[in-house]
Amino acid sequence: MFKRILIASGPTLESIDPVRFLSNRSSGLTGFHLADQARERGLGPVTFVTGPTSFLPQGVDLVQVESAQEMRAAMNAVAAQADVIVMAAAVSDYRSLKYYPEKLKKSGERIVLELVKNPDILLELGRRKRPGQLLVGFAAETEDIFANAQRKLEAKRLDLLVLNEVSADNPAFGDVQNQVYLVRPDGVRRLERMGKAGVAAAVWDEIASLAGRAG
Ligand code: CTP
Repeated sequence: MFKRILIASGPTLESIDPVRFLSNRSSGLTGFHLADQARERGLGPVTFVTGPTSFLPQGVDLVQVESAQEMRAAMNAVAAQADVIVMAAAVSDYRSLKYYPEKLKKSGERIVLELVKNPDILLELGRRKRPGQLLVGFAAETEDIFANAQRKLEAKRLDLLVLNEVSADNPAFGDVQNQVYLVRPDGVRRLERMGKAGVAAAVWDEIASLAGRAG
């Protein structure tokens, strides 16, 4: 069905010194199910770019990365050949300005770590999007969730945004279940809270319907 499916998954890990890093609670489970089901449904060859995770799918071209900058390079290497790109990774928004080659010694009661912004990989992919290419992003919001989702959809030129409403009842990150909304330029659909395999199946159903409509 597709010539090449490109999926980014998992957290990124931003090194500070040889033993320390910045990261987040992404498990990579949703990305794993997306890749696994693409293979199971025979949707096309999958390139799976992932940050550090224990969920590694079989039957895909696997590219393991650590940092956002490495993930960006791996995505850019394949993006032009992909007709579907799903950016399910939890990219660290910031990294340490400096990498300290020697382990930092403890010093005063307070220390300051200066952070710089990482590239927004999905925004860049949106800017270079080819006609007919489908671009899917994820978002985690705690307030004004639909307004923020609509803004992201437009700014990143997405065909579909999988919106997590992050709350005490739905932590999303690190949980095995999730409750999401599928946001398209033409409307929003709420899915019941379900296992992440179910979320991945619903995302592929939606992508199939978008691909069908695009002809
Ligand atoms: N993303 C990315 N590169 C980044 C940050 C995010 O590609 N440096 C992607 C994520 O993989 C996800 C989407 O962009 O698909 C999330 O968008 P983002 O604007 O970062 O939203 P949030 O993570 O929800 O954070 P914020 O609201 O703080 O912008």
